[in-house]
Amino acid sequence: MATLRFILNGKDIQVENVEPATPLARLLRDRLGLIGTKIGCGEGECGACTVIVDGKAVVSCLYPAWKAQGARVETIEGLKQGDQLHVLQQSFVDANASQCGYCTPGFIMSAKALLDAHPRPSRQEIVEAIRGNLCRCTGYYQIVDAIELAARRLADEDNGPRPAEEGRGRILP
Ligand code: FES
Ligand code: FES
Repeated sequence: MATLRFILNGKDIQVENVEPATPLARLLRDRLGLIGTKIGCGEGECGACTVIVDGKAVVSCLYPAWKAQGARVETIEGLKQGDQLHVLQQSFVDANASQCGYCTPGFIMSAKALLDAHPRPSRQEIVEAIRGNLCRCTGYYQIVDAIELAARRLADEDNGPRPAEEGRGRILP
């Protein structure tokens, strides 16, 4: 059993006695209490467990925790600043992109990895970036809308609030 050290949401952390086969998702949830990272399929198929490791979105149910040694790991818990939602979180709210919400942290982390690397993605690039994330509720349109909205807000082109009724089922202007 190993001691794991990595940077989690900007803070140095150390976890003792990590079994070699422990997936990162289990370490985050069971050892560190970060239950915002969801486990759906547990087989790399649904994307609910997506986190960011060194800038790349990974499915943490399959990602061995030991591979995070020395890495920068970002989870959904690291996005909010005090009472202020991250722009992606707020955009998901405003575009009605979440229903049951189980898939939402995974989508948001996939989207964050995309926007961190490509702040002005095309709609097609957004669709590609969330290809590994499944949602049983929303039909995906609102999710893509939300990511587009977040990109625009990050570019300071659109900082106004979105009425909730404007988002559902249509592409935001
Ligand atoms: S729980 Fe990891 S991909 Fe489904
Ligand atoms: S909002 Fe329910 S699975 Fe996506």
